[in-house]
Amino acid sequence: MQIITTKQELLQHVEACKQQNKTIGLVPTMGALHAGHASLVRRCVSENDVTFVSVFVNPTQFNNKEDLAKYPRNIWRDADLLSNLGAHFLFAPTPEEMYTAEEMNSTFEFGFNGLDQVMEGKMRPGHFNGVVQVVSRLFYLVRPDRAYFGEKDYQQLAIIRYMVSGSAFAGTFGDLQIVGCPIVREESGLALSSRNERLSESEKQTAVNISRILFESREWAKTQSVAEVQQRVVDAINAVEGLEVEYYEIVDQSTLLPAADFSHAIGCVTVYCGPVRLIDNIKY
Ligand code: PAF
Repeated sequence: MQIITTKQELLQHVEACKQQNKTIGLVPTMGALHAGHASLVRRCVSENDVTFVSVFVNPTQFNNKEDLAKYPRNIWRDADLLSNLGAHFLFAPTPEEMYTAEEMNSTFEFGFNGLDQVMEGKMRPGHFNGVVQVVSRLFYLVRPDRAYFGEKDYQQLAIIRYMVSGSAFAGTFGDLQIVGCPIVREESGLALSSRNERLSESEKQTAVNISRILFESREWAKTQSVAEVQQRVVDAINAVEGLEVEYYEIVDQSTLLPAADFSHAIGCVTVYCGPVRLIDNIKY
């Protein structure tokens, strides 16, 4: 596997692949890779001739400076894992390589058709503008045939799908296919996340209750209304010492608007476990 740190080198390698008519798969990440990322990379390697993985902790998507500073980073461990998985190129630029000073500080404006007005969008103003800023840049640079994202960040996936198919970037990325991949969980049910690295062992035990309650709520959904299940999930999680729900919303899987019933519904939750903000979701 080759490690690339500049856009210029990246463009050269992409051009060489295109010249040889090779299909390109891209897995954008912020590093601190775990088995969830590994599942994306494995799938990418199996479906494309060449796999590019980006590792870039994107400053423009963090609205909380402390969260950015504390985001786990371990590029050499990531490189080892990616090489073992069969990735061909690791793109690991610095923020200065990705953005001009102006881009780093200016607000990237993008219309999300309301998808950003709910849940994460409400809690983290500007977050999805930063995500789209970096992901669109990666798409321009790598010109992938397929790009892989985890369903754990369900709203992000919905917004990226909209970005590619919606009017703002219409046709810009050719036939790019956005591939959503299922959440990978520990045996305990805890959704894998780079942020789990910041949990102590006892916090991890506590965090397991999030997925336990979400799975249990599928049973509740058989006899109760959306509003009742939504409230019951919030109450059950908040009743666990050490957990505090920021939001739990049961929404339509496509529009992300409040679901009227459970057909095509997904429940998305954000919970603080001590100081660590965790997200998870469940389809009904
Ligand atoms: O999901 C992530 O890790 C990030 O939001 C992404 C898509 C790599 C953009 O920085």
